[in-house]
Amino acid sequence: MHGLLGLGLLLLGFLVSSPALLEAQAHSPFSSVTPDDRPVVLITGSTDGLGRELALELGTWGAHVIVHGRNEERGQEVVDAIEADGRGSARLFLADFGELAQVSALAQEIRAHYDRLDVLVNNAGVGPGSPGHERVLTQDGYELRFQVNYLAGYLLTRELLPLLERGVPSRIVNVTSRNQQTLDFADLDMDEGYQGGAAYGRSKLAQILFTMDLAEELEGTGVAAFAVHPAPAMDTEMVRQTGSTPQSSVEQGLASVLQVATEAGLESGQYFHELEEREAHEQAYDPEARRLLRERSDERIDRALNR
Ligand SMILES: NC(=O)c1ccc[n+]([C@@H]2O[C@H](COP(=O)([O-])OP(=O)(O)OC[C@H]3O[C@@H](n4cnc5c(N)ncnc54)[C@H](OP(=O)(O)O)[C@@H]3O)[C@@H](O)[C@H]2O)c1
Repeated sequence: MHGLLGLGLLLLGFLVSSPALLEAQAHSPFSSVTPDDRPVVLITGSTDGLGRELALELGTWGAHVIVHGRNEERGQEVVDAIEADGRGSARLFLADFGELAQVSALAQEIRAHYDRLDVLVNNAGVGPGSPGHERVLTQDGYELRFQVNYLAGYLLTRELLPLLERGVPSRIVNVTSRNQQTLDFADLDMDEGYQGGAAYGRSKLAQILFTMDLAEELEGTGVAAFAVHPAPAMDTEMVRQTGSTPQSSVEQGLASVLQVATEAGLESGQYFHELEEREAHEQAYDPEARRLLRERSDERIDRALNR
């Protein structure tokens, strides 16, 4: 058996207390299955921070984790830890999301290695950066946060939809933020008035518009899409770079993402603020904004990939 319900039941144990989690794991429906039957979970940006913790946790639940990042040494360390634990299995794929050709190549490699995907977690991201830092453009010429946090995940998800459709019931989880700022379609790369926090907030709202689109488009297919703000200012590299004091632990964010990735009974298209379903920024419910974002995203991808 593979599928989300079993993982969801284990999640309930996790949320109650960790002895309960251990108990649940002892009865995991995945502990006795062959690797081919494991739920397959891809977590982008799982070489550090929240993604890394999620990879290690789902490994202990018996999942096969596709670990992704840019740093081979840190990625291999995550894979080795999952393999050494023995309950799950893992494999590392490298790609820099600052270059869309690498994102497309990653999707191609994953399609070559796997015939289905149960959960895709779009987690890789660049934070607001240190105060006063300069605007950065990617290899493709787009504003860094817009591309790494949103556009790369858009492309990866679109290119992996056939695998997710073969994994139904399957899920796409976009790890977003409570920092959501209105997208300006006349200046998506923030040529004017660049500010790291605003660029970050726009990219995080773009992920939510995409989630709403996916939910509508995939209705009835068994592939569900969610967006989640994990926790405020977790103690990760992203937050440390801003120079601010962390306000929450990675474990807190982990519980939020685990819930949307695995718990049964959720409705596709929901936005979660930590463990609670909430309304997202109003632009997420504007069909014209979503249409524009889709159009601009496809144009940018076609240009970068010479299509
Ligand atoms: N930290 C918070 O308080 C907070 C709050 C709300 C939402 N979030 C969201 O949670 C997610 C994880 O954040 P985190 O705090 O865990 O950050 P983190 O510790 O800085 O980890 C970010 C991950 O993304 C990867 N990444 C960064 N740039 C990349 C690129 N160009 N190409 C490919 N991978 C790249 C990093 O890889 P490298 O190791 O190679 O850099 C790393 O694995 C993000 O989407 C973030 O927006 C975080």
